[in-house]
Amino acid sequence: MCGIVGYIGKQSVSPILIKGLHQLEYRGYDSAGVALSGEAAEGIRVYKAKGKVANLEAKVETLSPEAQTAFTTGIGHTRWATHGEPSETNAHPHLSMNGELALVHNGIIENYQLLKEQLVGYGYTFKSQTDTEVLVQLIDYFYQKNGKQLTKAVNQALNKVIGAYAIVVMERENPNHLVAARKASPLVIGIGEQNAEFFIGSDATPLVEYTHKVIYLEDEQIADIRPSEAVEIINLDESSANVNIKDVDIDISALSKGGFPHFMLKEIFEQPHCIENSMRGRVIRREDGLYEIKLSALAHFKAKLIRARHVIIVACGTSWHAGLIGKQLIEEMCRIRVEVEYASEFRYRNPVIEKDDVVIAISQSGETADTLAAIQLAKEQGALVFGIVNGVGSSIARAADTGIYIHVGPEIGGASTKAFTGQITVLTMLSLALANALGTISEEQFQEICRELVEIPAKMEVVLKQNDTVERLSNRFTYARNFLYLGRGYNYPVALEGALKLKEISYIHAEGYPAAEMKHGPIALVDKEMPIVCLATRDQLYHKVISNMQEVQSRNGRILAIVTEGDEQVKRMAQEVVEVPATLNCLTPLLSVLPMQLLAYHVAVKKGLNVDMPRNLAKSVTVE
Ligand code: F6R
Repeated sequence: MCGIVGYIGKQSVSPILIKGLHQLEYRGYDSAGVALSGEAAEGIRVYKAKGKVANLEAKVETLSPEAQTAFTTGIGHTRWATHGEPSETNAHPHLSMNGELALVHNGIIENYQLLKEQLVGYGYTFKSQTDTEVLVQLIDYFYQKNGKQLTKAVNQALNKVIGAYAIVVMERENPNHLVAARKASPLVIGIGEQNAEFFIGSDATPLVEYTHKVIYLEDEQIADIRPSEAVEIINLDESSANVNIKDVDIDISALSKGGFPHFMLKEIFEQPHCIENSMRGRVIRREDGLYEIKLSALAHFKAKLIRARHVIIVACGTSWHAGLIGKQLIEEMCRIRVEVEYASEFRYRNPVIEKDDVVIAISQSGETADTLAAIQLAKEQGALVFGIVNGVGSSIARAADTGIYIHVGPEIGGASTKAFTGQITVLTMLSLALANALGTISEEQFQEICRELVEIPAKMEVVLKQNDTVERLSNRFTYARNFLYLGRGYNYPVALEGALKLKEISYIHAEGYPAAEMKHGPIALVDKEMPIVCLATRDQLYHKVISNMQEVQSRNGRILAIVTEGDEQVKRMAQEVVEVPATLNCLTPLLSVLPMQLLAYHVAVKKGLNVDMPRNLAKSVTVE
């Protein structure tokens, strides 16, 4: 979703803000802006631009060198429109009517219409269509009323607000002061040496090159930030809150493309290494050559997890697809009933959640608003919440009772790739460890799956070597306006994921289906123009999938098949084939999804589209 940066200290602020906005651009990107001030500067100066951060940067670069050094306090924002079209007027920061306050905001103020009407009654006028401008005017209303005490005014205003927010506010009268607050939308404060300077971000990405000491604001907390003073935090009810300083550790090299043309391609190629990282210290080969799985989350909550007779997986998008694979893994290995729910539906559905249930929340960002709300609901009903998350220290990681990080490093590309395989790896380890504890898997099966799991990174490398093949064949498909993806069993969620990847970055309509369902409707779409991606690896449903492919073939559909190495039968039926090494059924998705990712990538590149920042998409969906 939108990205926030802020800085207060002695350094020239605009390069810090612009760099931070570039790093956050993956979150949302239809417009951007900064507000600058400083002791040696006059008032608050605002720059905004529609489109990419580069457009804003060009504007800010027109500042004279003197002005650059005079501005030492600032806030910046990259926007993903929720209220009002993408435009300079609607871009953040927003100023109060008198120009005394500037504010950046992530989230949604749900009662903004009502508040706006009240403010209009007090004589306020508005330039934009945004809920954010209402919020800054509301803060200004209290600010003017209470003798210009900014923190108090923010508190008073937020007590009137219904909705989600992460905000940073600055005031013209005191350039040495920023106020930040959050509710259901993340905000991190980075602490410079001896409190001399502070960095603010909607996630830790833009802060880590300056400091590793951070404060994650909690919901309904307001931080009062002044250079050379310790940050003070109060709660919305005005009580003072503890300041918890944490260490954050993000590998900065993960934030650059490392020689690849796009983050997405880099992240696809990182997967063998990411999966190794995800298994490190968890899948352990003992001296006797046998494997064991050590998961601290399982050790601490073993009794509760073993008792569970019902698991509910909640997630969105790609993470939901990983959840569908998790369902098969857990049911097959642990014999526990699993439901997979879209978090957005679950949260409003009055679902049946029993005290002994386990709710597994899967999220790359760890900030998805719907998943977070589903967790809240599950906790209220007494279920144990288990998080499978990539974003270290993220809201979901902190809200869950326990969980496992997937440890695949920051995912910057708009389309999720390495997080998906990381999530499946964690779900596999969790299923194995739980099954072992429950006694629902034999030692032979356990060892066989572990042995095969540790081979997956090398097998992924083999698939990735076919990148050129996928690039070449993608040429034949750029014309298509519709795609069908078919798979069964463990490959059914992969079909869904393949279709989602193609849709989101190449803007080609694509649908994933369980292959056998095709004859119940989608078969009507099949003609010689229609590419059909068939996941036909050698598993127990292989022959069934072949029958489904024959149905396509007899209707002249163009088949691109993903097959197990050495398969000759499918090769004779398909126009194009990509081979993946043989593996166990339950691990197939870790290999079969790679050609799906590469295909979507190359089709989008051939179409000249912005692969890393697909239109309308936000990397971190912090609004419902
Ligand atoms: C797809 C994609 C989205 C996310 C979804 C959930 O490529 O990125 O569908 O998977 O928005 O996000 P997280 O996993 O961060 O909760």
